[in-house]
Amino acid sequence: MFYQVYPRSFADSDGDGVGDLGGLREKLGYLELLGIDALWICPVMRSPMADGGYDVSDPRDIDPLFGGLAALDEVVAEAHDRGMRVTMDLVPNHTSERHPWFAAALASGPGSAQRARYHFRDGRGPGGVEPPNNWRSVFGGPAWTRVVEADGVPGQWYLHIFAPEQPDLNWENPEVAADFERTMRFWLDRGIDGFRIDVAHGMAKPEGLPDMANSDTGMLVHDDDDPRFNNPGVHEIHRRLRKVMDDYPRAVAIGEVWVDDDTRFGEYVRPDELHLAFNFRLAETPFHPDRIRDAVDHSLGAVAAVGASPTWTLSNHDIEREVTRYGGGALGQARARAMALLELALPGAVFVYNGAELGLPNVDDLPENALRDPVWERSGHTQRGRDGCRVPLPWEGNRPPFSFTAGAPWLPMPAEWAQLTVETQLERLDSMLSLYRMAIELRSTRPEFGGTGFQWFGSPPGCLAFRRDGGLLCVLNATDSPILLPAGEVLLSSVPIAARKLPANSTAWLV
Ligand code: GLC
Repeated sequence: MFYQVYPRSFADSDGDGVGDLGGLREKLGYLELLGIDALWICPVMRSPMADGGYDVSDPRDIDPLFGGLAALDEVVAEAHDRGMRVTMDLVPNHTSERHPWFAAALASGPGSAQRARYHFRDGRGPGGVEPPNNWRSVFGGPAWTRVVEADGVPGQWYLHIFAPEQPDLNWENPEVAADFERTMRFWLDRGIDGFRIDVAHGMAKPEGLPDMANSDTGMLVHDDDDPRFNNPGVHEIHRRLRKVMDDYPRAVAIGEVWVDDDTRFGEYVRPDELHLAFNFRLAETPFHPDRIRDAVDHSLGAVAAVGASPTWTLSNHDIEREVTRYGGGALGQARARAMALLELALPGAVFVYNGAELGLPNVDDLPENALRDPVWERSGHTQRGRDGCRVPLPWEGNRPPFSFTAGAPWLPMPAEWAQLTVETQLERLDSMLSLYRMAIELRSTRPEFGGTGFQWFGSPPGCLAFRRDGGLLCVLNATDSPILLPAGEVLLSSVPIAARKLPANSTAWLV
């Protein structure tokens, strides 16, 4: 089981209001108690933070905001002592505009070797005043920005599929791949156990950067027909990166792959490419039995064909939190508990996003002046973006910032979270946190979770039941009324069970 840390929001050790690696180190005991096997730490490399660290200006250093290299070394050493592995985010698709390469590209002018590391093009139309093609940025606005050349005159344009502060690298340039390999080895040699590869379906661009047939894509929308992603050339890149990983047999590479088609998705986890790929199907599926069943079938089918392990996640730092997605309030909590047990019963690797184990809802009423996601500005203040799922974690006490920081948190925290602090939830057996702890422990110790085999089991309409090879039976009741459970001992349930009745919106594990 992997635990995703969004470092800005996890724990702050120096009182500047932004979480850091010192804060993470102080909380490793908590993560050990939770029972996690490995951490995925979102980007902590040097960055001007235009996109929460996904705009990297030096991929082989840790930003001082997070505590510098020494702080990472301490996290790795202590996590290893506690039996946890540490993976970190790497961002191959783009750099920060402040990366020395981009500064050199601007200074060197059209046609230079420095510009060839990125996608610079002349504009279209008289005087080159139109962007080179009609692509839109995932964060809104055009995907091209025009630069001012050394002579002070507007000149070429550069491609940025994300924010203008994130120029796309040209992976056809051998220097780009060589530098990324150097970055991988730098961290692996330092003891990192692997990577989450950002936008792993990006990197390879369509030949000639042609116009898109339908450039009117929504913001943060993932679509298999989007020609900017999932181009065949990306697999050659992953094969190259895999050769580096193979020099470090302990290490794992997990790709962020927003591809729906089962066959195309599976291609990323062929034996000579990524070890694992993020599968967002459960995170995109409403609380509906047929849809959940379909998501599970596709997830398993996509990777079975190539002999890879499935992965599961209900949320991450880009997605509305599940409690809110499932309806919010008591209903959202009940369904999130049910889905946590369903997810943790499935074969494969589970990724839990920090705060999911506390049942945190999305914060949808952040004041506008607090919003930091570039989407807010880029959309002309029409889309609030992803800050609502990035609000810092409540640890202790009755008032914000709940010991997250000694200062003012970088995003305001709701006063109602007094009920959701780690401190409160550790004391209550019926809390979301206690449910996660019990489930994770059972999952890692009981033989009923063994084997990779999986079969659906007959169940009443509106319900789902499946059996693992090891013997675990997982039953989800997505109807509005209780159902009778099949025979067997109840190992764990998302709500208390009386008279063998599984209440509405809940899940039980039986052996
Ligand atoms: C990935 C990250 C997201 C980031 C984007 C650009 O989708 O998960 O947070 O904004 O890549 O790097």
